[in-house]
Amino acid sequence: FEVEWDAEAADKGGWSSFMAKEINDQPDAVENTVRGRVSPSGVEIPELTALGDERLRGIDRIIIIACGTASYAGQVGAYAIEQWARIPVEVQLSHEFRYREPVLSDRTMVISVSQSGETMDTLMAVKYAAERGVTTVSVCNTQSATIPRESDAAVYTHAGPEVAVASTKAFVAQITALYLIGLHLGRVKGALSAEAAAQAIAQFDELPAKVREAVDTHEQIAQLAHWMADTRSVLFLGRHVGYPIALEGALKLKEIAYIHAEGFAAGELKHGPIALIDHGQPVFVLVPSPRTSPLMHSKVVSNIQEIRARGARVIAVVEKGDTAVLPYADDVIRLPLADAFFEPLLQVVPLQWFALELSTAKGLDVDQPRNLAKSVTVE
Ligand code: G6P
Repeated sequence: FEVEWDAEAADKGGWSSFMAKEINDQPDAVENTVRGRVSPSGVEIPELTALGDERLRGIDRIIIIACGTASYAGQVGAYAIEQWARIPVEVQLSHEFRYREPVLSDRTMVISVSQSGETMDTLMAVKYAAERGVTTVSVCNTQSATIPRESDAAVYTHAGPEVAVASTKAFVAQITALYLIGLHLGRVKGALSAEAAAQAIAQFDELPAKVREAVDTHEQIAQLAHWMADTRSVLFLGRHVGYPIALEGALKLKEIAYIHAEGFAAGELKHGPIALIDHGQPVFVLVPSPRTSPLMHSKVVSNIQEIRARGARVIAVVEKGDTAVLPYADDVIRLPLADAFFEPLLQVVPLQWFALELSTAKGLDVDQPRNLAKSVTVE
């Protein structure tokens, strides 16, 4: 009796692809990124402390720069940093940044987000900012990569090596790191109370187990994807922090399943995208919690009614116990309860599985999609 040893399969931890393994790794990616930065007494990122509290208190504007999936992590992070630190935050694609000749000062902080730390567009944007006296902070998953070395501070995500071209665990770790930065800045600036910080910290404690529950939607999503294997176009709707998750869900489908997909802000529906809805059009809707965001919840439920009335096939991603959408949804994916800012870290997981399963159903290479590279080191 001989046991065949396949080194590559071993690296995949028994999963059929690196992407599947990396989706499954996400509870650890979140936990490891939080570790050592959060304690019952608060949030502290030593790399930011090293910049000096005076310098941090002087920051009056933050620009997040990134490409691809990292830019959507940046968009999610921007909502939270602005909310917690009360500093205006905008997100720009790295390759657009310097061409607009941005208004920068020594009170501006540029936060770059990059899994590889080698994306040339992002590196050039960081250099442009650094030359103009801006404080540069790198959120990066790769130790000693070029971008963190070129930055004033490096806040590493600890997702572990990510092999699949389509980013998954790095994405949730990036959002986590940006949240920690927001909490740190909020406390240093005095914009965030100790109680509010403690509430967010409590959410971090529960997060790995909740992300695990989101990972466990795999079987349900696999069946859904099986029925939808011939789908030619998928739309995603989200609001607030759910909006960048809608964009990310669409990007994943384009990247690995080569399916046309678009993400929209749910409120934008009536300003154009609703014209796309006809019979059988699949639409994923990320539904905010009715407990924490009742107003947004009711608006998104109205959106669901509008598209359903026009024949859309609605796949609603809801928190457990939300029954408001049941009459209008063809499929319901239920996720654990979390505070509003922590929902995206759960909502993205079924969307990752969906892209993976559709890619698999089409017989494609999940880990190495055509025309794409893990790290793009040319401008
Ligand atoms: C490439 C990859 C994307 C990734 C983007 C940014 O385009 O295909 O998956 O999101 O680069 O990469 P980075 O390493 O900077 O996060």
